Amino acid sequence: MNIVVLTGAGISAESGIRTFRDSGGLWENERIEDVATPEAFSANPNRVYDFYNTRRQQLFDPQLQPNKAHVALAEFARLSSVNMTLVTQNVDNLHERGGSDNVVHMHGELLSAKCVKSHETVRWNGDLTALNTCQCCQLAQPMRPDIVWFGEMPLYMERIYQAIETASLFCAIGTSGSVYPAAGFVDIARQCDVETTLINLDETDNGHFDNRYLGKASECVPRWIESVKAKYELD
Ligand code: OAD
Repeated sequence: MNIVVLTGAGISAESGIRTFRDSGGLWENERIEDVATPEAFSANPNRVYDFYNTRRQQLFDPQLQPNKAHVALAEFARLSSVNMTLVTQNVDNLHERGGSDNVVHMHGELLSAKCVKSHETVRWNGDLTALNTCQCCQLAQPMRPDIVWFGEMPLYMERIYQAIETASLFCAIGTSGSVYPAAGFVDIARQCDVETTLINLDETDNGHFDNRYLGKASECVPRWIESVKAKYELD
């Protein structure tokens, strides 16, 4: 069975990573225009480097661990009857640490840096600064966080649309549905007669789901998986 799962900041909230739009969320203290646009990077690169360096450092905090929702998705994907495409808007590595492979990071990754000229990427664990330059260009170029900023095109879109069009189930987990194109995936799924499920702490503005599980991802994701396994007799 082909299944597409889209995750957002809510799935990592119980692990200790702040969401963007909840009370206390990242966009309460920082303006998107100051840290998450190409214009912000041109105007004040150090501020942008700092913002993402802090977030990258958090990934190495021993307290930060994947939660039951990350782990349950990884175990579900390992069933031989399941072909899961796991798409995430998150730039953390908690899906991978929870056991998932081939995670589609449509908004980029904190543990990756990108040459500003060639856009070639390289794994990056430490701080990134204006002094870091690429190894891909003849004339070494600055590196930037490998993050999709506002005004830029998310990654892997063709692959994601193809996966949705051929899916039987689409499930969005822990996302407010405020950022497109991800917020529009549910509509594409519905146009393709794909059964849609929302798992979120609260209702989102994006109301077009067939099924809803309102509550914590760590509790609702395992429940949703059990119900899908029972309904479609998956093992
Ligand atoms: P948001 O912060 O907009 O939404 C997070 C959602 O998760 C909210 O609807 C919360 O109610 C829900 N939530 C919080 N805790 C939860 C829990 N324990 N279990 C289940 N749900 C929970 O985050 P995203 O929708 O991921 O983009 O934001 C989308 C994009 O906007 C991000 O990828 C980022 C941001 O600007 C870029 O930086 C490009």
